[in-house]
Formats: sequence, structure tokens, C-alpha cells
Amino acid sequence: MTARAIAIDGPSGAGKGTVARAVAQALAYRYVDTGAMYRAVAWKALRDRVGVDDEAAVEPIAARASFNLDGGRVVIDGHDVTREIRTPDIDVAAAAVARLPRVRKALVAHQRALAGQGGVVMEGRDIGTAVLPDAAVKIYLDASPEERAARRAADPAHVLSGAALGEVADALAARDRVDRTRAASPLVQAPDAIQVDTTGVSVDEVIDRVLALVRAGLRGAAGRPARSGAD
Ligand code: DC
Repeated sequence: MTARAIAIDGPSGAGKGTVARAVAQALAYRYVDTGAMYRAVAWKALRDRVGVDDEAAVEPIAARASFNLDGGRVVIDGHDVTREIRTPDIDVAAAAVARLPRVRKALVAHQRALAGQGGVVMEGRDIGTAVLPDAAVKIYLDASPEERAARRAADPAHVLSGAALGEVADALAARDRVDRTRAASPLVQAPDAIQVDTTGVSVDEVIDRVLALVRAGLRGAAGRPARSGAD
């Protein structure tokens, strides 16, 4: 049992970031946005003019990267890319690098090292299934495709690009397809994850619900015997 690890997974626009940040703050745990790590690797690949499908070239970028995700910033190898990684181009490039098994393996190693440092709320697509399968609590956040597209369209990065709701919805559906159908760690709900549907539910209400589930899960986990050899 990874005693102080909370896994929050789900598709784009389900509200993972907002909820995971709020839960981390309430518990005084560290918040780790693993999507930002795939985005930062994609940013570096584009900057280095490396093909985002070129596994042999992208893998060393991921394996050798140093990440600093403190305070809501995203820094890769000393470059603060917090804003630059939130663009439609990086949406596409990040989904491409996230398909590459060796890139995933390298980032999972970084992510496990971060989780080894203490209480963590880790957000992504494969946290409960692959990165931290022994997490104390696993939440799977979902919402209807229409609502997720509307949330994305209200995101400043997409508003600035002038994308209409229909375009955002199409791009989101395409990215969902890549995330759900890739061979390496596709987006699926872990069997032991609790699903929370956020469609039509206010942000505050979702945070309250998830926090209650997490607190109950942590109490339950504290009462279970630890697996041998695991934290
Ligand atoms: O959550 P996000 O949109 O910032 O994620 C960027 C991309 O990375 C997206 O295509 C999903 C992928 N991703 C992943 O495959 N595994 C993760 N743990 C997190 C993100």
C-alpha cells in the first residue's frame, strides 16, 4: 500500500486539475500533474526539432529530464514552460509522445520517485492502473463529452487561439481516442477506483465529494495491514 498516495485519473476536461490541487491543499500533500510532464517533454522535443513520434529520440529527453513542479510552475531542464505547454499544438504533441512506451516508462520512473517523497495527490490517466497501483485512494473523474468540451473552450489557452466550441470538441474527441486506444497504458478506470461523474456538478461540490471520499479512503487504508515490502 502506497499509504499516502492519492491517484486521480480521467479524461481531459473532467476537472482533475482543479480537484487534485484542492485535495492536495486540504491534506497538505504535494500535487503532481503528470500531464504537464508529458507536455513538457513534447515541448522540448518540438524545440529540439525531434519528431514527436520518434521514440528513440524522445526517450532520452524524457529519461534525462529534470522536472520542477513546485508552486504550480512547470520547469523542465531549467526552462519554465508553465504557459507555453498550454496550447492546442502541445495538446496534440503531448498525446503523441504519451503513446511511446519507452517515454512512458521514463516518466513513470520520475513519477514514482516524486511519490516516494511523501504524501502526494497525483493526477493523470494511468496513475491508479500503472504508476501507483497501490495508491491508498483512487478516484476516476469523468463528465459528458459535451461538458468537457465546453470547459476546455472556456480555458484561456483555447480562447486565445480563437477556437470555436465545435473545433475544441473535435480536438478533444480525437485526443480522447488516442488516450483510450493506445497500446501502452491506455486511459481506463482502475477496477478499484471510485468513479465521480462531474457532469452538471459545481466545482465546489465536486471538491467536497472527492475530499470526503479521499478522507474516508485514507481512514480505511490506515486500518488495513501494509503489504510486505511496500510503503
Ligand atoms: O492531462 P493533460 O491534458 O495535460 O495531458 C497531456 C497528454 O498526456 C494527454 O494526451 C494525456 C497524456 N497523459 C498520459 O498519457 N498519461 C498521464 N499520466 C498524463 C497525461
